[in-house]
Amino acid sequence: MAVSPPMAFTEQAKMLHDQIDEALQAELSFSRACPSPLSDAIRYAGLGPGKRLRPILVLLAAEACGGIREDAMPAAVAVECIHAYSLVHDDLPAMDDDDLRRGRLTCHRKFDEPTAILAGDALLTRAFEILATRIQPAEIAIQCITLLARAAGAEGMVGGQMQDLMSTAISPPKMGSRSGTQAVAVDMAVAENERNLEAMHRSKTGALFVASLQLGGTIAGATESDQGVLRTFGEKIGLAFQIVDDLLDVAGNEQQIGKRVGKDDALGKLTFPGLLGTEQSKQRAKEMIFDACGLLEHFGQRGTPLRELANYIVERDS
Ligand code: IPE
Ligand code: IPE
Ligand code: MG
Ligand code: MG
Ligand code: MG
Repeated sequence: MAVSPPMAFTEQAKMLHDQIDEALQAELSFSRACPSPLSDAIRYAGLGPGKRLRPILVLLAAEACGGIREDAMPAAVAVECIHAYSLVHDDLPAMDDDDLRRGRLTCHRKFDEPTAILAGDALLTRAFEILATRIQPAEIAIQCITLLARAAGAEGMVGGQMQDLMSTAISPPKMGSRSGTQAVAVDMAVAENERNLEAMHRSKTGALFVASLQLGGTIAGATESDQGVLRTFGEKIGLAFQIVDDLLDVAGNEQQIGKRVGKDDALGKLTFPGLLGTEQSKQRAKEMIFDACGLLEHFGQRGTPLRELANYIVERDS
């Protein structure tokens, strides 16, 4: 008897995307106590046309661990609120100074800077309100709040954003007629940049990927070994995701990615393509995804959607 093929990942992703947006719409409705320019800005940033990768990871991790999608939805929405806030603040003139996000004006360009800052603050705080009020039992809610706060905070995403602002590549001595000592200095400078870069990517992007997976796991009652696999898988796909983001900034299509290209170079950011070149960076991202997928053996068939998502991360063009 023919076995029907698993739903194509793009179809499944679309379905999850729609379910997430429905829940996000509901959680980003405000009473009159919230002044309308602020609620408009919050909804503009929170409901904009993004990929919803992090909430999808929450739901798929919960299912990989034997949990139910509906139970994980509040955590999925909370992570997306944190992500949306991080984008609003990342785009501000004081940070990356961008005018295009998700194919539309950035929040501070659409509204104004003070409103965008406050919309970011409101998305950040709403995330924790959702976790505290929508997850049962309270003990699981507290675990979720703790792990998301740590991942999003000073020792996670916010700390990584600080590293990003501080990062300008250490210039190695000029190539050409290098003495033996200079050649060693170049190698050391490259190695140090690479270490800094990896640490920065792990914090600014990887931490939220890991937290998304662990939230799903926590809600599904994952075992310690499940959580260990989810953590390492998240670290690898998070790093690969940011390498691809950096590659798209070099060679992506502005229409497709919905953001300006060439910004990292213009701002002197430390990036993988800037340091290792395009080909080696692509190779590095592919290796990370290959290793990440290998880890999913642990979940058997239930790990298939996560594997498909990991492959999408390295193949994407937006
Ligand atoms: C952009 O993330 C910010 C980074 C961490 C590189 P996404 O590429 O997931 O953004 P959206 O949500 O799809 O717009
Ligand atoms: C942003 O990294 C990471 C965040 C935590 C928001 P980027 O600055 O590279 O993200 P994009 O390219 O603007 O989306
Ligand atoms: Mg940035
Ligand atoms: Mg940016
Ligand atoms: Mg980028």
